[in-house]
Amino acid sequence: MDGNGRWAQQRHMPRKLGHYQGAARVRGLIAHCAQVGVKSVTLFAFSTENWHRPSDEVDALMLLFIDYLDKELPLMLAEQVRFRVLGSLARFSPAVRERIEFAQTQSQHNTGLMLNVAANYGGRWDIVHAVQQWHVAHPTAYVGALTEEDLSHYLSTAGQPELDLLIRTGGESRISNFLLWQAAYAELYFTDTLWPDFDEAELQKAFVWFAARDRRFGGVTVSAP
Ligand code: FPP
Repeated sequence: MDGNGRWAQQRHMPRKLGHYQGAARVRGLIAHCAQVGVKSVTLFAFSTENWHRPSDEVDALMLLFIDYLDKELPLMLAEQVRFRVLGSLARFSPAVRERIEFAQTQSQHNTGLMLNVAANYGGRWDIVHAVQQWHVAHPTAYVGALTEEDLSHYLSTAGQPELDLLIRTGGESRISNFLLWQAAYAELYFTDTLWPDFDEAELQKAFVWFAARDRRFGGVTVSAP
């Protein structure tokens, strides 16, 4: 969800107002995803590197998570959304952690769209953490026998569909330590649109672009007989 800070600065507003505007975008976009049949969405809300931002911006983002969960959870439950946070919760304050855990528990049996929020998340962390968890589960196993399939069960996205489409707003052309493993065969969509301006019409543009991609997964296109 890149571009919140620039969106605010362009309007001579404090950066945190860009984050508020960015958070306000999420509800409509998730509803649109559910409507068109998307099974799982992951929002990159806070990276492991974002802790290095000025403390007032980090504090504002933490308050925003709290506010978002307090306000949005009833609707998520009503809409059958399953909510999960990807990332280590250890560094969050008890107030943030409690809300995350409450939202995860309350929504765990829902049957609709899976909404993952990546927070204190990094793709490299996800892979290292998966190896560690695999080792905890198989302390005497020979690491040389570990397969991609084995490890996939220990990633933060275990049990979820393959990542098909990765969207980055805000004009950068990099993945920035987002779902590194999961993005192996994803289509990458980069747009200059800043996140607070990324509305349902912009999302639909990305879906239309995705639908026209020829996905070969390393093979060749099979022509019609
Ligand atoms: C990147 O924009 C955005 C973030 C670091 C925070 C995104 C978080 C939210 C929108 C809060 C939403 C919360 C939930 C739980 C859905 P940037 O600040 O790097 O923008 P810039 O590149 O223009 O500076």
